[in-house]
Order: sequence, then C-alpha cells, then structure tokens
Amino acid sequence: MSNDRQSPPTLEPRERAGDILYSPSAARNRDFIRDAFLKHGPNAGKALEIGGGTGEHALHVAEAAPELSWHTGDPDPASRASIAARIAESRLANLIGPHAIDVREDDWDVAEQAPFDAIISINMIHIAPFTAAEGLFAGAGRYLLEGGALFLYGPFSRNGAHTAPSNEAFNASLKARDPSWGVRDLDHDIAPLAQKNNLVLSATVEMPANNLSVIFRKN
Ligand SMILES: C[S@@+](CC[C@H](N)C(=O)[O-])C[C@H]1O[C@@H](n2cnc3c(N)ncnc32)[C@H](O)[C@@H]1O
Repeated sequence: MSNDRQSPPTLEPRERAGDILYSPSAARNRDFIRDAFLKHGPNAGKALEIGGGTGEHALHVAEAAPELSWHTGDPDPASRASIAARIAESRLANLIGPHAIDVREDDWDVAEQAPFDAIISINMIHIAPFTAAEGLFAGAGRYLLEGGALFLYGPFSRNGAHTAPSNEAFNASLKARDPSWGVRDLDHDIAPLAQKNNLVLSATVEMPANNLSVIFRKN
C-alpha cells in the first residue's frame, strides 16, 4: 500500500465513540445512496467497496441486502478501525472486512474474493489525486464480472461545466486544500477511463445536493 497521501482523508469533522467514527455527510446521504445502489446494482452476490470511510454506507446497504456480501475497507487506519468496530457490533454475516486496498496499486490482493458483481466508491475520486480514479477504473476492469457494475457517487461536472454554483465552489475549496483533488468531469475525465477499461456508462442518477450516482457496466 502506498502511504504518500499527505492530507487527511476527509473534509468534515467526525464524531467518535470508541473506534466508531460518524460522518455527518454519510448520515445525510446514506438512504439515497443505498436506494440508488439497490435499484441499479446487484442485490445479491459480491460487492467490493473502496474508500469505505467510517463504514456507515457499508452497514446501511448490508442491512438492507442480506443476500449481498459487502466487502469494505479503506487505506486509512482510523477508518479501518471504525469499519472493524461496526462489523463487530452489527454481527452481520454479509458485512466483511476491513481490507486496506489503495486503488493505485496494481494488485488489490482480492484473488480469493474476485470477481465481483459490483465495485462501489462513494465520495472518493474527487478527494484523492486523479491517479486514484485511474486505479479505480483499472481495478474495475480487472476484478468485475462481465456485466458487473461500477457504482460511483459524488459531484461531477458535465462536458467541462459545473452543474451548480455550489459544486464550483466545492471544487475551488478542494483545490485550495490539495491541487491534485477536484470535482471530476464525467465526460472529459471519467468516460475515457471507462472506455480504456472496457466499461460502459449505463445510468446517471440525480441525487440531492447536486450529486450524481453514476453506474458503469463491464462489457
Ligand atoms: C471523503 S472520504 C469518503 C468516505 C466514505 N466513502 C463516505 O462517503 O462517507 C474518502 C475516502 O477515500 C479513501 N481513499 C483516498 N484515496 C484512496 C485510494 N487511493 N484508494 C482507496 N481509498 C482511498 C480515504 O481514505 C477516505 O476514507
């Protein structure tokens, strides 16, 4: 795993109870993300979550979809501790982890679990260097089943234009924090990565607060 990320992985203050971390944004958006994922992604089989953070999204989907094995983790040790504590507390048999995958690595060490019916990454590719988006799509090309889904959630610009003033301001604040971060352009930045890795855009879902859920399928 690479450890060259200098910045903390999140933008918001998090509450803590023991090892368990609480993300205010995850609490706000987890119902919408769960519902979009279960509508457009598999409800059974194996899902691999990348950059799972506090583990709140993992728990929320795993509770709602007992036939889906949800493998989650994060390269950040504090996030992994939170995920491990949530898994232990929940006792859900279908919530598995935490892994320590850094998507920039060529080998995600998932030979025993792959291929996956879905790979999910929520609020990650804009709060990481673009090499993380490149690594995520390369991994989706390697580890998804044919017909499997890559599900992304976050803000995106379209054809070079921000979709709302709030996203433009958010992009500026990300770049002030780290110039390698930033809202990604679905058409100019992300579509070429999909094409390169044999993935096809299958749905875009408008979400609250000018975010999108974006679903690609592996050919
Ligand atoms: C803003 S947090 C989002 C956490 C969670 N998905 C959520 O929405 O609450 C971004 C997460 O991506 C992870 N991350 C950043 N770079 C990554 C990389 N190269 N590979 C995998 N995860 C990464 C961070 O450690 C962090 O937990």
